[in-house]
Amino acid sequence: MASITIRQLDENTKKRLRLRAANHGRSMEDEVRTILRGAAGVSGEARPVPAAPAREAPPRADPAPAANAASGAQRVLLVIGGGIAAYKSLDLIRRLAERGAVVRCILTAAAQEFITPLSAGALSGGRVFTDLFDPESEFDVGHIRLARDTDLVVVAPATADLMAKMAGGHADDLASAVLLATDRPVLIAPAMNPRMWDHPATQRNLAQLQADGVATVGPNAGEMAERGEAGIGRMAEPLEIAAAAEALLGDAAGRPLAGRRVVVTSGPTHEPIDPVRYIANRSSGKQGHAIAAAAAAAGAEVILVSGPVSIPDPPGVKTIKVESAREMFAAVEKALPADCAVFAAAVADWRVATPGREKIKKAKMGAPALALIENPDILATIAQRKARRPKLVIGFAAETEKVIANAKDKLKRKGCDWIVANDVSPETGIMGGESNSVHLVTGDGVESWPPQSKEEVARALVARIAAALGEQP
Ligand code: CTP
Repeated sequence: MASITIRQLDENTKKRLRLRAANHGRSMEDEVRTILRGAAGVSGEARPVPAAPAREAPPRADPAPAANAASGAQRVLLVIGGGIAAYKSLDLIRRLAERGAVVRCILTAAAQEFITPLSAGALSGGRVFTDLFDPESEFDVGHIRLARDTDLVVVAPATADLMAKMAGGHADDLASAVLLATDRPVLIAPAMNPRMWDHPATQRNLAQLQADGVATVGPNAGEMAERGEAGIGRMAEPLEIAAAAEALLGDAAGRPLAGRRVVVTSGPTHEPIDPVRYIANRSSGKQGHAIAAAAAAAGAEVILVSGPVSIPDPPGVKTIKVESAREMFAAVEKALPADCAVFAAAVADWRVATPGREKIKKAKMGAPALALIENPDILATIAQRKARRPKLVIGFAAETEKVIANAKDKLKRKGCDWIVANDVSPETGIMGGESNSVHLVTGDGVESWPPQSKEEVARALVARIAAALGEQP
């Protein structure tokens, strides 16, 4: 009788066999035996056999990535942390599924003290992942694919420990490794004892996560599971989390910038005169921040480089905080490459050549004669370079006279694709105000938009950006 060994098979067949074997939890030899018995029509073996029994035999079929990518369903990777609120995450799986999402679950070791992979698997209808070093799931899916083959990662409950690991960039178990490897939006639903929530360490971690672009829902105030404990720390209700997830996911039509990377500058820069004084432009950062938020809502990966402002970081955006023009320039360089860059910051044109190392004393110096030197022009430098130039470079022109003429001139001088021009004379109230009245100056001409809120200007600009990028390869 002829004999054949696996080693003799061609590489492609071997690869497919390996995958099939891993899917069924068998060795490659056993998989071949099963296939051969099936082909020979030996009863009972012709059908695919269920997986080798895992610890709790959670459902093995894993319909998530390929099928869903094809069906267009939104994919949510739910990381369940180890807290008493984990039981609510089972209901969250149902709520997400009701909204048409396909849910995959990761349970931390601590989560398995509260709920089982079997229950999460039964509700999600797929395999539940628990172990970074599980050769079978690493081979079959792998933590990098788990991190990427999804549209949104939801962490619920996000325990104090899990938040600390995320903020610190740890990767010593499957959940933290996936959270470090993902480039998808992340939503956390914190849940912990109120004192743990109030602790400066947790608040520090929360601020870090928000600055990294992580969105949050809750925690809510109320009775805790522990008897006699009340305060802020209850995990948001599954319906609230599902609604927050839905808002982040949007629908495909509402995410025209999905897969695009956008860099935005916003706010003023501060150029030191001495340790206590600085030169700055007036800028609230409201328009730039609104553009960053609108681009993120449209599905883009957004890096916002912000000068000192007193408004909150926009949700779903990675915010990098800088002080001076030179720091802003360096942060923009680091954030590139990008598909589009929007330069909305009011960058100080000059800096003091030699800022005082100590506070300049009035009595000694009288009025100091400050020698100024020019700052790098971030917009012009990026717009005029060949390598790593974003496909679409957009500048702003804040003018107090001859708005359109100055903006046209700026478009040419800076070498950018579009200029958003506005009249910032004090009587317009635009500077620091809530609304804006802009003209979009492009190579094709000038469009004057009606007065509208800064959020509306941002959404309209993002729609234009999406249309322009959609026409480019
Ligand atoms: N800009 C920049 N870096 C600078 C100065 C300006 O990136 N050092 C960008 C701004 O973010 C804005 C645009 O350039 O998008 C125009 O800024 P503006 O201050 O109006 O232009 P200036 O070149 O400084 O021209 P002006 O002589 O009118 O001040």
